[in-house]
Amino acid sequence: MSFVKHLECSRCGHNIPKIETRGVCPLCQSPLLVRYNLHQVKRHVKKTTLLDRPTDMWRYLEVMPVDADEDIISLGEGYTPLLPLSRLGKSARLRNLWVKDESVNPTGTFKARGLSAAVSMARKLGFKKLAIPSAGNAGGALAAYGARAGLEVFVVMPVDTPSANVMECRMTGARVELVDGLIGDAAKRVNELQAAEGWFDVSTLKEPYRLEGKKILGYEIVEQFRWKVPDVIVSPVGGGMALIGIWKALQEMEELGWITSQRPRMVAVQSEGCAPIVKAFREAATTAEPWVRPVTFASGIRIPKPFGDTLILQALRESRGHALAVSDESIYSAVQQISREEGLFICPEGAAGWAAIRHLSETGWINPDETVVLLNTGAGLKYIDALNRFAKEHQPVGAGSEKR
Ligand SMILES: Cc1ncc(COP(=O)(O)O)c(C=O)c1O
Ligand SMILES: [Zn+2]
Repeated sequence: MSFVKHLECSRCGHNIPKIETRGVCPLCQSPLLVRYNLHQVKRHVKKTTLLDRPTDMWRYLEVMPVDADEDIISLGEGYTPLLPLSRLGKSARLRNLWVKDESVNPTGTFKARGLSAAVSMARKLGFKKLAIPSAGNAGGALAAYGARAGLEVFVVMPVDTPSANVMECRMTGARVELVDGLIGDAAKRVNELQAAEGWFDVSTLKEPYRLEGKKILGYEIVEQFRWKVPDVIVSPVGGGMALIGIWKALQEMEELGWITSQRPRMVAVQSEGCAPIVKAFREAATTAEPWVRPVTFASGIRIPKPFGDTLILQALRESRGHALAVSDESIYSAVQQISREEGLFICPEGAAGWAAIRHLSETGWINPDETVVLLNTGAGLKYIDALNRFAKEHQPVGAGSEKR
């Protein structure tokens, strides 16, 4: 049984009644959002109902676009650990610091969530050939879920994408094309493939279902805090799906009567080498200008012009949140610090969030008793070559050796 009401344009409000219609808004080409009959969901499922459910993303089936178990393409994504970071917290004078550790997802990043949802829906809707422009991890996740679903996958990535991503796509049978350029160039190539060969484009927010997988992060964080909303959620932002998704989940949970109107302050973190959202936030703009010459070894947040810029900036403003950029040097040392202090070898994007939290605690924007959640989006193991290269180029000889 589906509780989907319609798809709604995030910009002009245009409603598309049929679940079969997908893509962007036909009137203004903006992202579409899935809307549910939440009053019906409320009658059908209670917080306590969840206790008997499997501990994966699909325990929230009623607020997902897929309505039958047999339509689900799963590799066990979601319901990742929410871990206290007490040593790290102490070092920044924070008493309630937590990490939502997405590195344990299939394919090693939070991209698994969105692609599990998108591939499930694409297969249900009869698509057989799925294409994606990717900074790396989304491509890897699409390739894995595509293989699981028995669908063809085409991944287009910049030529300097981490080798782990290229390898995982090839191993899982995807066609891979590396473009001598950035993600925007990869997106152009996917447009060509769509027009010429009928590949279905699963780019960030160019279809509405990936976001529905991502948003479950928000449900999980609140459930794991026993239905209490944290004070601050810090997320690295490239395309901004996690941030937009969590914000959407909180709105839904309030309508379901699962939480009050209390909201966390949402913080978007980018690299100083590619910070279009930070710039737009500072200038109080509603859209972001494309970042010229984006450079960062945190490849997942090297997104010069996020398609969901308006939605990201809206969530930041509505939550009285913040956006800040950190240097690649501070990202690298944040990876080292979290690894050493907590045993979590996290990805550079997640580590950027930690560098930002340290700064926000120092400036007093976060106070010591607030509950703060760092979203670690993936595993450091996927970035061995990028970390090696960065260390070689930036660290003095002997630094980063085994001795502490
Ligand atoms: C590990 C990792 N973290 C963060 C991001 C940024 O995520 P989003 O595009 O949802 O903002 C990406 C995107 O590729 C990623 O792979
Ligand atoms: Zn529209």
